[in-house]
Amino acid sequence: MARNDLIVGLDVGTTKICVVVGEATGDGGVDIIGIGTSPSTGLRRGVVVNIEKTVQCVKKALEEAELMAGCDIRSVYAGIAGSHIQGFNSHGVIAVKGGEVTQRDVDRVIEAAKAIAIPMDREVLHTLPQEFIVDDQRGIADPLGMAGVRLEVKVHIVTGAVTSAQNIIRSCNRSGLDVSNIVLESLASSKAVLSPEEREIGVALVDIGGGTTDLAIFNKDSIKHTSVLALGGHNLTNDIAYGLRTPMVAAEKIKLSHGCAMSDLVTTDEIIEVPSVGGRESRTMSKRVLAEICEPRCEEILALVDQELIKSGFKNMIAAGVVLTGGTCLIDGMQELAEQIFDLPVRIGYPTGIGGLVEEVNSPKYATAVGLLLHGAGEESGPRQRAFKIRDDSGFDRILGRMRKWFTDIA
Ligand SMILES: Nc1ncnc2c1ncn2[C@@H]1O[C@H](COP(=O)(O)OP(=O)(O)OP(=O)(O)O)[C@@H](O)[C@H]1O
Ligand SMILES: [Mg+2]
Repeated sequence: MARNDLIVGLDVGTTKICVVVGEATGDGGVDIIGIGTSPSTGLRRGVVVNIEKTVQCVKKALEEAELMAGCDIRSVYAGIAGSHIQGFNSHGVIAVKGGEVTQRDVDRVIEAAKAIAIPMDREVLHTLPQEFIVDDQRGIADPLGMAGVRLEVKVHIVTGAVTSAQNIIRSCNRSGLDVSNIVLESLASSKAVLSPEEREIGVALVDIGGGTTDLAIFNKDSIKHTSVLALGGHNLTNDIAYGLRTPMVAAEKIKLSHGCAMSDLVTTDEIIEVPSVGGRESRTMSKRVLAEICEPRCEEILALVDQELIKSGFKNMIAAGVVLTGGTCLIDGMQELAEQIFDLPVRIGYPTGIGGLVEEVNSPKYATAVGLLLHGAGEESGPRQRAFKIRDDSGFDRILGRMRKWFTDIA
């Protein structure tokens, strides 16, 4: 069965591939009707390095989601991350033709802001307007229909390596999928976990996944800064495997069930069993030793994010603090450690703003996939179509009409 009003998010992550199927409810909402996941084996640090393996994983997740939703999936909104992603701010200025800002003027000014030299091997993934300035009036979100002679826009531009984007598209195409759009993963996650109030007064979203840690800073309801660090939960697993001399699979298991990001929080003398390598007998170890291995790595990741926050110049403009999401933020003590390092309020972000099978996606791991879906839903309902409708009658006609009414009232 093929349905038209389905929107599908495909999160091609370093540790898992996740397909989330949503159905538009008609009143602007989205209901989750299917989800499929598969471990990811074709990526490193957020970037596709093996197309064949990625295709296999995408197909597996896709099949599961199709079965659950009872539909055929043809096109998806796919996520992109990796340290090749760069975000920077730019601005454009134009003269308004005809004294009133039209859609053409808005398009032209955004084009002007995009007119910057970008190396041949990079492409613009997003041009996100922060504010419009009409003549000297600042802070305008939608200038359509305003009177003015000079239109200026401030934008945040996100660029990525052409080849990385192409490899994602290629993996999707080979899995039998069209790609409706490629969306920066942190931007997607932010749509699923941040509240409008947080975006307004300023917030930093930190998505700590398996291979990457993505940062996006919002203030006054617009995106101010984005960056991607090539560090995540994999590094933690690696440290445990080396530190405890145990296989990676065992290290991952130990991390999930006993890991803790702050050794001070481990008060019990709980003992854990640690499998050995090379056929040696397994050993026992205190949980505190494990926490002492996890802590420096978690500290390193959060300290690098803090440096990025300071470098961006927006750290004192995020009154709502930091929202952590992505699988790695689930480790015990991460929120407490983050509060200590950032010296800001920190909360864990779960996907919100959806209906249907909410329980199935109720984990920070699914923030990106749900966010891709929400981004797709927003794009498909068309911001252009939703934009303010300009009345046909000119202002002069309306004033004349009102004056006529006065005269008839007097008479
Ligand atoms: N309870 C938990 N405690 C500690 N770590 C966890 C827990 N649950 C998940 N993780 C870790 O979260 C990581 C996966 O997170 P997520 O699914 O967000 O990553 P991803 O999207 O696949 O990767 P990326 O976004 O980096 O490409 C893994 O490293 C996993 O070990
Ligand atoms: Mg991710």
